[in-house]
Amino acid sequence: MTEKKIRHYLQFKDFSLDDYDYVLERARILKRKFKSYETYHPLHDRTLAMIFEKNSTRTRLSFEAGIFQLGGHAVFLSTRDTQFGRGEPIEDAAQVVSRMVDIIMIRTFGQHIIQRFAENSRVPVINGLTNEYHPCQVLADVFTCYELRGPITEKTVAWVGDANNMLYTWIEAAQILGFKLRLSTPPGYTLDHSLVSPDSAPFYEEFADPNDACTGADLVTTDVWTSMGFEAENEVRKKAFADWCVDSDMMARAHPDALFMHCLPAHRGEEVSADVIDGPQSVVWDEAENKLHVQKALMEYLLLGKLNH
Ligand code: CP
Ligand code: NVA
Repeated sequence: MTEKKIRHYLQFKDFSLDDYDYVLERARILKRKFKSYETYHPLHDRTLAMIFEKNSTRTRLSFEAGIFQLGGHAVFLSTRDTQFGRGEPIEDAAQVVSRMVDIIMIRTFGQHIIQRFAENSRVPVINGLTNEYHPCQVLADVFTCYELRGPITEKTVAWVGDANNMLYTWIEAAQILGFKLRLSTPPGYTLDHSLVSPDSAPFYEEFADPNDACTGADLVTTDVWTSMGFEAENEVRKKAFADWCVDSDMMARAHPDALFMHCLPAHRGEEVSADVIDGPQSVVWDEAENKLHVQKALMEYLLLGKLNH
């Protein structure tokens, strides 16, 4: 008997365009079921382990609520009160956890940690954020665009800010889904090209001036100046990033009906002005809610494959 190959979701490029077409459509169907209070339990008796080595509100809540709504159960494991914070080899942890649950979500530091975990896991592993990537968030953002403006293919996305896990994920998404990314990062915080596939080069363009990156964009997005794990750099970054604040002048460079996105949590007056994030072009609450729907579709797909109902 041949063993079924386990699929993991560790970075955006782990899925093809065909996978995304399916998962986005399933997210739409699952959202409709949720909104109409339709009971749908395809993951009855399945258990999700959620391992958090960094803080979270949205990702934790949406995965926990999501597996429950699909008929399953979540177990939350943090480094504060498990052996994860005490140096047990990651390979051993993966062996143990994956013998007891059906699917695992991890939020951790280096991407290499989640890769080593996945290599030793008997069940699918999902990246809930690493220093390098945040694929579930960009999946929610792409779905939000799809709901509000149609498919993201052929659209132009502007990134203003840090070369962080969100930006590296947007670059992978641009290549897989076929949209244009215009990005601007401050001097000293530019892209680490070792994290970017040369094949993605036709899909993104770098601009010294963030205003130029926003010109003609259908969607403008940014993120915190200091990501989790880099807090010691906060004061230096505040000075370096001062001109990389998405304000109404920057939004005025974009398409008149451009959307503004931010994965949250946000700092008003730093990476985004209050009038933009609280203004009519902002869709940040839709993005947050859509984490629930896309992650349900993702868990369903990784565990059950393609369905037709
Ligand atoms: N956007 C996001 O991942 O939020 P949390 O850090 O609250 O999970
Ligand atoms: N780039 C941010 C995203 C938080 C959801 C971080 O890694 O802290």
